[in-house]
Amino acid sequence: MAASPCIFVIFGGTGDLSRRKLLPALARNVAEGHIGDRFGVVAVGRSDNSDESFRETVLGSLAGAGFGGEGARRLADRTHYQVVGQGTEEDYSALGRRLAEVGRAHDIPPNHAFYMSLPPSAFGPTAAGLGGVGLNESAGWTRVVVEKPFGTSLATAQALNEELHRYYTEDQIYRIDHYLGKETVQNLLVLRLANALIESNWNRDRISSVQITVSEDLGVGTRAEYYDRAGAIRDMVQNHLTQLLTLVAMEVPSSFDAYAIRNEKIKVLRSLQPLRGENVVRGRYTAGEIGGKEVVGYLDEQGVPAESETETFAAFRMFVDSWRWQGVPFYLRTGKRMPRKTTQIAVRFRAAPVSFFKQMGCSHDFNGVLTITLQPDESFALYFDIKKPGSPLALERIPLRFSYGDYFADELPDAYETLLLDVIEGDQTLFVHGEEVEESWRLYSPLLDNPTPIFDYPAGTWGPSEAEGFAIPEFELCQRNTT
Ligand code: BG6
Repeated sequence: MAASPCIFVIFGGTGDLSRRKLLPALARNVAEGHIGDRFGVVAVGRSDNSDESFRETVLGSLAGAGFGGEGARRLADRTHYQVVGQGTEEDYSALGRRLAEVGRAHDIPPNHAFYMSLPPSAFGPTAAGLGGVGLNESAGWTRVVVEKPFGTSLATAQALNEELHRYYTEDQIYRIDHYLGKETVQNLLVLRLANALIESNWNRDRISSVQITVSEDLGVGTRAEYYDRAGAIRDMVQNHLTQLLTLVAMEVPSSFDAYAIRNEKIKVLRSLQPLRGENVVRGRYTAGEIGGKEVVGYLDEQGVPAESETETFAAFRMFVDSWRWQGVPFYLRTGKRMPRKTTQIAVRFRAAPVSFFKQMGCSHDFNGVLTITLQPDESFALYFDIKKPGSPLALERIPLRFSYGDYFADELPDAYETLLLDVIEGDQTLFVHGEEVEESWRLYSPLLDNPTPIFDYPAGTWGPSEAEGFAIPEFELCQRNTT
């Protein structure tokens, strides 16, 4: 069944995110029938443009995303362009009139999603601009979607929440974290909550540690201006990695809905022990080699100031003070210019209480590991020991593996395809609640205010040697077997 008819307004409609991700995601939803014919897009930009010429841009962007033909045309025909110059009251009133006109043209009731694909400094003023002319509500529904970063500290996140709440209730606000739209992240909840075997072992009695790794082989590229002010902790840890942690650590919710799930995630954040210096390692890549190619160090990247103190790597040891997780370390690790792009959660189970096989001279003393790989190949693997055929007795570590690609021929939906449809359907489960974002900043802000030393690591390695104790030893093996 198609989602409710609506107008999807993209502020920053001509920008990179809109062209690369948002328009293709909407086009796929239209093509697959998730969004019906009573649908319109209004792309908002600063410079003058006409509907006709913007539609050519849309078709070009869709073609660039590998999407053409009738499906692309259907989205382009429903796309309109509106200029909102300096963001004056008159600009927003004109936008309101345009929405009414587009609504009439495509027979759409006053349901409006406003997507802010804008620099963070524009989130608050845009929300207020809409509110100032009454576009924060309508006879139908009105939702605002806010891109990351949501603040740069606890104080700025609180201020932005306040600005948004002046005009919108929490259930109108959709804070995007695109990691939550990834198929395997959603499947993590199914894995836990639909399989009693897993969930009944998901605790400190059976699990000895959890490791969450998001490694990237790319460097900072052309984004130095943004990245040097953010660094790995603001760019990746405070949002994506922390979100993954809360999904792994949360209690079983009372139901599978946004309210119950987000509530449990907030409780995890409130149960995290404050970060101590010895549980944090920051790093910065120096020149090195990745995939046979020489790459420069962070300080030599274009646009990075020579006196930069920004980390491109961060590793954490965290503890959740709850009955379920007391004493179990959660290792978080992310970095640029690491050997390859991988996003993986590795859950290490406790060893058997008596190790017969070690006593018999077998070299293994292995604890089972469950890996949940989000990228590059969406899969699960459970590593356990079997007897190698023949004698003398020897054990071998073998993965029991499920990979999406082996079972489902269809391409997995892109995260934005899932998330934009959820906005239109009014499902906030995969969006970040205002309290979540504040709790997360509450955890990292003290560290960001008083950063720990920064250690170098050569590009193409797994981070500075100071972070070695922050990785579970089986991790590298599991990685080798998943690629
Ligand atoms: C973004 C960060 O949020 O996530 C980037 O700003 C990072 O620095 C990107 O490269 C990683 O996302 P993905 O989906 O490619 O793992």
